[in-house]
Amino acid sequence: MTAWRLISLPASGFADVSCVLVDRRTVAEHPDEYQWLSPEERRACARLVVERRRADWLAGRLAAKVAVRRALGDAIELAEVSVAYAPGGRPLAVYQGHALRDLWLTISHSRGVGLAGVRCDGAPIGVDLEHSKAWFKGLAGYAMGATEQARLGVTSSPTAVLASWTLKEAALKALGSGLRVHPRRVEIKARYTADAGEAAWQVLTPAGRRESGRGWFCHDGEWIWAVASLGAAGRARRRRLAACGSPW
Ligand SMILES: CC(C)(COP(=O)(O)OP(=O)(O)OC[C@H]1O[C@@H](n2cnc3c(N)ncnc32)[C@H](O)[C@@H]1OP(=O)(O)O)[C@@H](O)C(=O)NCCC(=O)NCCS
Repeated sequence: MTAWRLISLPASGFADVSCVLVDRRTVAEHPDEYQWLSPEERRACARLVVERRRADWLAGRLAAKVAVRRALGDAIELAEVSVAYAPGGRPLAVYQGHALRDLWLTISHSRGVGLAGVRCDGAPIGVDLEHSKAWFKGLAGYAMGATEQARLGVTSSPTAVLASWTLKEAALKALGSGLRVHPRRVEIKARYTADAGEAAWQVLTPAGRRESGRGWFCHDGEWIWAVASLGAAGRARRRRLAACGSPW
């Protein structure tokens, strides 16, 4: 039996968040023709004909199921947990056919590696995972506003730019919009170090609403991943976000 990696989040404000990372080998070695998928998920998997997309999807699903199982209790079967989508595309954890609206689920994947986060108090979070080779020359110009670029400085390292990018994508997933809101609208304030750091973010949505939250990122040499939470959502607002899935 192979293991997945649980990511501990040392940052303040993430006490209720549990994150799981699985790699391609873990998915490949995980037993028996993907018996951990529900019958419906096995059919969905068979429809994914592009090998890369299938590997990513499987890694994301396995990470999501393990993260949800950790939140619900180790006795449940992975096949009893599945992932549905809220309007707008954000993932929703489902257990035995019932959507778990008080458990916020977020997924990212890249190159066959999957990262999932769940938050037990139902407040919105997002995760993002990038390979360190995902950096390209125009990324800072595409994703960062002038103030952010100036704050990073002209000698900004690829790691810092990628960390900012993962924080932005994680924030936009917490918001539920994904890239329908341009990443330049998300402003990140972080202290970029070589390996890990905390951040604050804010966004002005196209609808003119200001949202903000906290973030945390980590770099292990090969991968950079980030987790973002959305504001100090009140309970009623959290329910509304969970119900509509597209809050912006
Ligand atoms: C969400 C989004 C930012 C993901 O970007 P990515 O870097 O390609 O992919 P990641 O691996 O980090 O994340 C993928 C996961 O994000 C999740 N996701 C998709 N839409 C989401 C949304 N609106 N909010 C939160 N999470 C979302 C899904 O679980 C997806 O994994 P799955 O399809 O295997 O279940 C991007 O796909 C997006 O913006 N989608 C919505 C808008 C859209 O469809 N635009 C067309 C392309 S720009």
